[in-house]
Amino acid sequence: MDDFLENCLINFEVNGREVCIQPAVGERLSAALRERLKLKDVKVGCDAGDCGACTVLINGLPVCSCLTSAHEAECRKVETIQGLLKHDKTAKKLVKSFQETGATQCGICTPGMIVSAVALLRRIKSPREEQIENALGGVLCRCTGYRKITKAVLFAAQNKEKAINHTDSRVGNAIARLDGEIKVSGREIYGDDVGETDFLGIKIIRSPFPRAKFKFGNLQQFLRQNLGIINYLTARDVKGVNRFGVIPDFIDQPVFAEFETRFRGEAVAAIIGKSEAIANFDVEEFPVSWEPLPFADSLNTAMAENAPLVHANRAGNEMCSGIVQRGSPEAALKCADVVVEGEFETSFVEHAYIEPEAGCARVVDGRVEIFSGTQAPVMNLESLAQILGMKRSDIRIVPTATGGGFGSKLDLSVQPYLALATLKTGKPVRLTYSRTESMQSTTKRHPSRISMRIGATKDGKVSGLTYDGSFNTGAYASWGPTVINRVPVHASGPYYVEDYRANSRAINTHCPPAGAFRGFGVPQSAIAQESLFDELAILLNEDQLEFRIKNVLADSLPTVCGQVFEQGVGIGECFKSLRSAWNKVKNRVKEYNMVAATNGSNLRRGVGVAGGWYGCGNTSLPNPSTIKAGIKHDGSIILHQGAVDIGQGSNTVISQIFAEGFGISTYQLQLVGGDTDVTPNAGKTSASRQTFVSGNAAKRCAESLRRKILRRFNASNKASIFFVDDMIIVREGDNDHKLDLQQMPIDANGYVLSAEETYDPPTKPLDKNGQGIPYAQYGYAAQMCEVEVDIKLGTVRALQFTAAHDVGRAINPMLIEGQIEGGIAQGLGMALMEEYVPGRTENLHDYLIPTIGDIPPIHSIIVEVPDQVGPYGAKGLGEHALIPTAPAILNAIRNACGARVKKIPATPERVLAAIHAAND
Ligand code: FES
Repeated sequence: MDDFLENCLINFEVNGREVCIQPAVGERLSAALRERLKLKDVKVGCDAGDCGACTVLINGLPVCSCLTSAHEAECRKVETIQGLLKHDKTAKKLVKSFQETGATQCGICTPGMIVSAVALLRRIKSPREEQIENALGGVLCRCTGYRKITKAVLFAAQNKEKAINHTDSRVGNAIARLDGEIKVSGREIYGDDVGETDFLGIKIIRSPFPRAKFKFGNLQQFLRQNLGIINYLTARDVKGVNRFGVIPDFIDQPVFAEFETRFRGEAVAAIIGKSEAIANFDVEEFPVSWEPLPFADSLNTAMAENAPLVHANRAGNEMCSGIVQRGSPEAALKCADVVVEGEFETSFVEHAYIEPEAGCARVVDGRVEIFSGTQAPVMNLESLAQILGMKRSDIRIVPTATGGGFGSKLDLSVQPYLALATLKTGKPVRLTYSRTESMQSTTKRHPSRISMRIGATKDGKVSGLTYDGSFNTGAYASWGPTVINRVPVHASGPYYVEDYRANSRAINTHCPPAGAFRGFGVPQSAIAQESLFDELAILLNEDQLEFRIKNVLADSLPTVCGQVFEQGVGIGECFKSLRSAWNKVKNRVKEYNMVAATNGSNLRRGVGVAGGWYGCGNTSLPNPSTIKAGIKHDGSIILHQGAVDIGQGSNTVISQIFAEGFGISTYQLQLVGGDTDVTPNAGKTSASRQTFVSGNAAKRCAESLRRKILRRFNASNKASIFFVDDMIIVREGDNDHKLDLQQMPIDANGYVLSAEETYDPPTKPLDKNGQGIPYAQYGYAAQMCEVEVDIKLGTVRALQFTAAHDVGRAINPMLIEGQIEGGIAQGLGMALMEEYVPGRTENLHDYLIPTIGDIPPIHSIIVEVPDQVGPYGAKGLGEHALIPTAPAILNAIRNACGARVKKIPATPERVLAAIHAAND
C-alpha cells in the first residue's frame, strides 16, 4: 500500500490551477504546497495543528495544512491567500482592513487568519464578535492581542473604511505599517522561506537528559551506512571559539557541548544531508551514548547545599548578583506604621512566537552569508566571527522578516549551525527548528522567587522597601546578567521610595537558558511589588488607585538610583487617567458581587490596578544606533533602516521620524533593511530602545541631510523641500531654488547626497550601591483589569482592560495601541496559563498561550508627557505594555474573592488554594 502511495501521482486544484504532484507517503499538504508548489504564503508554525498559521481552504473549508496529508487533497480544490487575492473580493477586503486597522504585526499568523476569515465571511455575511472568535479560534497570534484582528474582520464584513490620513504621514499620524501590505498578502519572506528545496538540510542531535556525559561512536561508519547523510558537525568543527553569549564577561554557551550537557535539548552534534534523508532520519540512530548525571533543575535544588554545579567556577551556582540601595531601609521599615511582606514565585515563560527559528546559508566568494530572522544582526555577526574564527568582513547577515521575537531572537539559534554546515560542505544549507526544538533549546523568561517587605506611614506614604530576588537563569548566561542588573533598578516600581534596598542574583540550573523576554525581569518584580502595594492600601483602608497616586514618582523626585528627571515623569498622569473607569468598575463589581452572593452564584468579579515603568535602552552601558540615508540622482530617497522590525513597527516609526525631520512625506522613502553589508548598526531590537535611540539617530540623520540641501541655497530651516522627479525644489517665501540631481556626482554608494548620524543615550555607570544614571529615559504605564472568578472551580476570566501608557509623544497611535494590546495578551498568558516545564510542555498544545477568545476588550489611553531627550518627546513602549498586566489581574482576583495568588500562573488549583488560604 505504502509503495503504491509513494508512486502515486495526485491531481488537485490549487488557486485555480490544476496541479499534478507525487508526494511521499504521509507528506504534509503544507510541505507539498511550500516545497513542491513554491506557495510560501502558506506559513508553518508548529506542524501539529496547534497554531493554525498554515490554514488553507480545501473545498471551501479551513483546515490546518500541516495536519492534512497531501494525498487528501486529491481531486479537491485548495485555496491559499495568494490564490484568494486573485479573485476573491472578500479576501481583498480583509487584506485591506487588516492593513488599515493594524491587525498584523510580525505577520506570520496573518495569512492563516485571513484565510479562516474568508471561510467565515463566505458563510456568514455579518458575523457577530463571538462568531469571529469561534472561526478564528484555531489560529494563534502572539503579537497583536487579537483585538485588531476581530476589528479588521468586522470592518471587512461591514464594508467599513478606516480613515487613514494619507496626506500627512509624519509624526503623530496613525498610518498603516509601511511593510504591512506584503505581510497581509502572504508575500513576506521569513527564515524558512528563503532556502530552496534542493539545499542541504541539517538535523541537530540534542541531549535527552538535563545533564549527561556523552560519547560518540564511529561517526565515519555512520556516514558510510546512511545514504543521503553527507556529513556531520561536532565541537571539533568549530574553528574559532566554541562559545557564544551576549554579555562580554559571560560568553559561556557552547555551540556543541563537549563532554557534558547542561540542559535537555542542548546540541552535541548535527548531521547534514539531502533534505529527504534529513527529514526521515531518526535521531535515535545517531551513534552517541549517554550517561545521565545528577542535576539541579530548579532554584531550590540549585541553591541547596552540595547541589551539583552547573559550571565548576560558579560556587553555589550563583552566576552574578545585583544591588541598588539608598537610605536606611531597615530603619525605615522599623519605624513604619504598617509593614506588609510576601514571597512570590513565577515560572519559566516561553516566547512562543509563531515562527520557529529558521534560516539558510551559503558561501559566496569565500564569504559566508546567513539569512534568518533576528533581532540583532550585528551582534549575530560579531558572535559568528568568534565561533567561525573568521574576519567580520567575511560574514554577512541578511535578516529575513522575523515572525515574532520578544527577546529570544536576540540570541543565536540556527545561525552557527547554518554557517558551520555551509562552510564544511561548500553547499547552500537550510535549517528550521521543529516547535519542540524551538521550545527546548531557546531562551525563556526567568523563573523567580522574590521576597519583599514594604512599609508605609499611617497617612499612606511608602516609607521603606527591601527586596530579594533569585532568578533561575538556566544553564547559560544569555541575558541573565542584564536581568540581574535591571531588576534592582526597577523593583520599587514607578514610585518614590527614599529608603530602599534590592538584591538580585542569577542562579544557574540544568534548564534551558533564561534570557531576554519583554521586560527583562521587571514583570516578575512588578508582581511582588504591585501585589504588596495593594495589600498596603487594603491595610491602610485606602483606595488602591489613590494610594498609588499618592506615592508616584514625579518630576524632580529621585528614583531609587538617585536619578532626578526635571520633566517627563508621566506615571501620575497614567494613574489619574484611569480614575473614572476605576471608580465606575469598582462600584459595579461591588454591586455584582452582592447580587451574586445573594443568588448563591459561584461567580465573583473584581477589579485590580497596577503600575509599571521601564528604562529604555541598555542599563548604564553605551547603546548607540546609526541611521543612514541617501538620495539617488533620480530623486529616490533611501533610508538604511537597521532597527530590525520584528512586528513592533520600527520600519514605520523610524521612517515617520525621519520624514518629520527631513520635511517630506513618509511615503516618499524607500527602505533598505538591516543587511550587515549595506546598513549601519542600529543596535539590537530590545529594551524598548528603537523608537527612542534609533528614532533620535533617524531624526539627526534627516536633519543633517536637510541641512546639506538648504545650505546649498543659503535657505533657512523654515524652507520647504519638494522632490519633483529628478529635481529637488527648495521653497522659501516666494523663492524656488532648483537642484538638478542628474548633474550631481554619484558617490560609491550610488548617492548624490547622503547623511549618516549616530545617537547614544546619555547614561552613567552605577556605583557600588547602584546609584547613578542607568537610563536616559523611562516610559510609564498603569493598567486596570476586571476579572470574573469562579470560586468553586478556581477559573479566572478577564472581562476588560483599561491601559494608560505614557509614550511621551505618540509617533504612530495605531502602532502604539498594537503594542499595548499585544503586551496585555502576553501578560495575561503569563498571569493565568503559561508555564514552561522542560520535558513536559514542549509544544503548543501542552503549553497554552492566549487564543482570540481569551482577550477581552482593551481600552487604550495614550498619555503624552514629553521626554527631554526622546525624538519629538517620544519614549519607548514595547516592554512597558506587559509589565502591569499580571499584577493588575492578580489584584483583581484578590478584589473578587480575597485570594492572594503568590505563584503564577494563577491556574485553577492555585486560585482555589489561595481562596482556601484566605478563608482559613
Ligand atoms: Fe500574529 Fe505576529 S502578527 S503572530
